[in-house]
Amino acid sequence: MPRNEAGRYRHIEVHPVAGALGAEIRGVNAAGALDDAVIAEIRQAFLDHLVIFFRDQKLTPHEQLAFSRRFGEPMEYPQLKGLTECPLITPVIKLAHEQINCGGGWHSDTTYLAQPPMASMLYAVEIPPYGGDTIFANQYTAYETLSEGLRRALDGLVGVNTSTKADASKTREDRLKAAGVAMKVLTSEHPVARTHPETGRKALYVNQGHTARFKGWTEEESRPLLDYLFQHQVRPELTCRFQWQPGSIAFWDNRCVQHNAVNDYAGFKRLMHRVTLAGDTPR
Ligand code: SIN
Repeated sequence: MPRNEAGRYRHIEVHPVAGALGAEIRGVNAAGALDDAVIAEIRQAFLDHLVIFFRDQKLTPHEQLAFSRRFGEPMEYPQLKGLTECPLITPVIKLAHEQINCGGGWHSDTTYLAQPPMASMLYAVEIPPYGGDTIFANQYTAYETLSEGLRRALDGLVGVNTSTKADASKTREDRLKAAGVAMKVLTSEHPVARTHPETGRKALYVNQGHTARFKGWTEEESRPLLDYLFQHQVRPELTCRFQWQPGSIAFWDNRCVQHNAVNDYAGFKRLMHRVTLAGDTPR
């Protein structure tokens, strides 16, 4: 991550929010007609800071979709239904009477797919009066801060990722039930340390939400090492925390970031609109 932003960006302002990752981008109207040069700088900030934030935006679902298309190809979210009027926008909602939120718990999005999403873009529509923050963790640093010996061991391992790990699947259960949709069982194998296709950096690519075991190992054998990695990869110094306001956007790189939607706003509604951008096969 560049320490000195001066002179790096000409069209946007980039303000880091934490030492580990995350930057707020200023000077952009996401609903406007943005030049390719502006988009290129936003993409550079996204690669440099891993998760970027915008404040005070006003986006219809179609405007959010159009903005996200400047960075990749929107895809359907496999376990949740999109908006009727704009199916590639998935509402991420928790109602006031509900207990469980969507995306509560550390994960990288849908790593049980053969080609998990490159990025996700969340736009805040309705926010509780307090709480409901999202925390992000830098998986480049998670990998780089392991010992050389453990890194070498992990480089040879493959993780088995599934949509049915209890904690993560619980966070989608209510929505699926309401839509009358059965939970799909999806499983994919990915390298435990993946190389980011744009930056060439290695990132730790297991996550508590979806990684069940190492390929060729039993769950019981995998658990001690996975448990170590799950706590290591979200240590506070690897994270940043985003406090939402209506009109905020968070745009994160699932190839090197994990996130966790904090469920601390009992009795209040929270509604976000989400676009998921297609990714490649992790290598
Ligand atoms: C998600 O995991 O995509 C939801 C994140 C959030 O609602 O903050």
